[in-house]
Amino acid sequence: MRTLSVSPLRVFLTVTGVIIAIHLIASYSHQEYGRITSLSHITNKFRPSRPPPPVPVQQLPNEQIYSDKRENATFVILCRNNQLWDALRSVKEIEDRFNNRYHYPYVFLNEVPFTEEFKYSLKHIASSEVEFGLIPHDHWFQPAWIDEDRATKARQKMQDDNIIYGGSLSYRNMCRFNSGFFFRHPLMQKYKWYWRIEPDVHFHCDILFDPFRYMQENNKTYAFTISMFEYGATIPTLWEFIKKNPEYLAPNNAMGFISDNGGDSYNLCHFWSNFEIANMDFWRGEAYMKFFEYLEAQGGFYYERWGDAPVHSIGAALFASRDQIQFFDEIGYEHAPYTHCPRQGNNWERGRCSCNPGHNVDSDGISCLNKFQAFMHS
Ligand SMILES: *[C@@H]1O[C@H](CO)[C@@H](O)[C@H](O)[C@H]1NC(C)=O
Ligand SMILES: *[C@@H]1O[C@H](CO)[C@@H](O)[C@H](O)[C@H]1NC(C)=O
Repeated sequence: MRTLSVSPLRVFLTVTGVIIAIHLIASYSHQEYGRITSLSHITNKFRPSRPPPPVPVQQLPNEQIYSDKRENATFVILCRNNQLWDALRSVKEIEDRFNNRYHYPYVFLNEVPFTEEFKYSLKHIASSEVEFGLIPHDHWFQPAWIDEDRATKARQKMQDDNIIYGGSLSYRNMCRFNSGFFFRHPLMQKYKWYWRIEPDVHFHCDILFDPFRYMQENNKTYAFTISMFEYGATIPTLWEFIKKNPEYLAPNNAMGFISDNGGDSYNLCHFWSNFEIANMDFWRGEAYMKFFEYLEAQGGFYYERWGDAPVHSIGAALFASRDQIQFFDEIGYEHAPYTHCPRQGNNWERGRCSCNPGHNVDSDGISCLNKFQAFMHS
């Protein structure tokens, strides 16, 4: 009994062994054979039939095709060492929702050197090249010619008036750096496009296209997801440059979006610059650099509290054509306390978004999106 039942098994094992050996030799010597008969291929065929999986709403773009055609672009993250874990979460989200298929590089900037722990962790989580840069002293710290008494009084007054970050010097350094210096950093010079990310932001939807490519192919300059009103008290003289230098106004500009009286005054609408995708050659160009140098000479980054958001927004709205400004509805984005969640067409479904489209800054009174869209359709 025993031998009878064992010997067919022996035969089977021997035959199977020989077949496997031939298969291995053939796959080794002939790649095509290996590809066609690979184990997963065979097991697919022998799997019991079961109902087909639901048809996905949209296939993710093919990684190979897209990463082969990367644009001249980078992510940029201004960040402190103590924001490591918040930065890590932001990068993880943009990786999962977008960059693990595209592999755009990252540039981290800081006014002090990044720690080894910071560098190790961020390199570990990114699917692409990561560079860490030190901000040159003069690009970050208050210039020596600023009248410190006047600057101190201004900070004190804004703090007394309960203006957000009104008393903060480092916030002012940051706004000035983001307004006029980040795109001139040696690590950024080699790129045309950037996508700004901050620690502790959220990307709520799959991004199924390459925004950089879209910008490049459609001749766009500046893209945003959230637009809102600025606090008027922070920017009393920001508007002067335009009145003094009307020659820099671009034809067909978006003045109608940021001024309700044909350019007489600023209506405080701006693009929320903690998210932006834009062309740095535009910031490096004559109109914007003249604008920045004017602002810098006024000292208003310190005597007032100009934010980089209104500075960039005025630059984009006035020195570019309105067709070059892009609103990306499909990019679900959150920077507490505000969220933009896609609302147009089936963007929410296609992006497998995890945000609540009913809980959206776009329909809040602080948002300028309706104004932007009305202007673009006017
Ligand atoms: C990318 O853009 C920058 C800035 O315009 C430029 O200096 C650089 O040569 C570009 N790189 C490539 C590979 O085109
Ligand atoms: C991009 O748009 C600007 C403004 O409308 C225009 O002046 C320029 O010629 C366009 N460039 C291309 C390559 O179409």
